[in-house]
Amino acid sequence: MTARVGFSLQPDTEFLGLLEPVLRDADYFEITPETTWRRGGDGGWVPNGFHREFRRLGDELHTPFVGHAVHGSFGTADPRDRERQAAWQQRIAADHAVFDFQWFTDHLGAAVLDQRALTLPIALPMHDAMAQIVRERLVALQQVVPDVGVENSVFYFLLGDWLDEPDFLARVLAAPRTHLLLDLHNVWTMAQNVGADAQAWLDRLDCSRVIEIHLSGGERSQPGWLPDGRTLRLDSHDHAVPDEVWALFEEVLPRCTNLRGVTLERMEGSVAAGDVSQVQAELRRIREVLRG
Ligand SMILES: [Fe+2]
Repeated sequence: MTARVGFSLQPDTEFLGLLEPVLRDADYFEITPETTWRRGGDGGWVPNGFHREFRRLGDELHTPFVGHAVHGSFGTADPRDRERQAAWQQRIAADHAVFDFQWFTDHLGAAVLDQRALTLPIALPMHDAMAQIVRERLVALQQVVPDVGVENSVFYFLLGDWLDEPDFLARVLAAPRTHLLLDLHNVWTMAQNVGADAQAWLDRLDCSRVIEIHLSGGERSQPGWLPDGRTLRLDSHDHAVPDEVWALFEEVLPRCTNLRGVTLERMEGSVAAGDVSQVQAELRRIREVLRG
């Protein structure tokens, strides 16, 4: 079966309005559940207006959903986080009842440390005990959505050799119906930032575990951010997909034998009226590559 083409919805009315032609072209929508929540009176999470709006768009355009969370924090081992994890999963179950997610992923990493929420996921030590912690969280989440997975993240520091990550992912994803969301811009970004070869990382990966591919663009950091003026590639989803990422996509696609979807990611606030046709062309290009 040919994989489908998806687009990420963002909680921004102007973004959704501008990109309406793109939304009409998508086979599925990817949503980040946490962007559809707000704090309720009792301190728990309740749906915000975008929860309703995303559901309305799905109904109007007859488009199904996949879930891509940011705060499952599967790598947080701290027992003090268990209550938050249970509340998070309960909220995901309530969202699943509304959106009927085809599959559900989050980022590999820890997004909560010492009971504090982090802006970006932190890298995990790539040992067996940590693989088991993440694996058990994924298996627990299968009580809500049968097909679950993790995305290879961008990290700005690492605990170990980046080229060992594909092996760590294989240990994390040892249970049935646990999958990889392969973000190719993240692979390319990491390769540049650590001075490694993206192809070497992909050659070590079991691509049969890939359920979804992410394509996006980014930019380089400002030279003033680091004292030595060095810049880093950022996973910022705010520009066109680079040629190098398209090349990785075409190269790796035949190996992803169980692929179900390819999602174009774009950040709200990064699209002006003049960019819409370019985003539309990217979605069409994904479809063309998938058709071969
Ligand atoms: Fe991604």
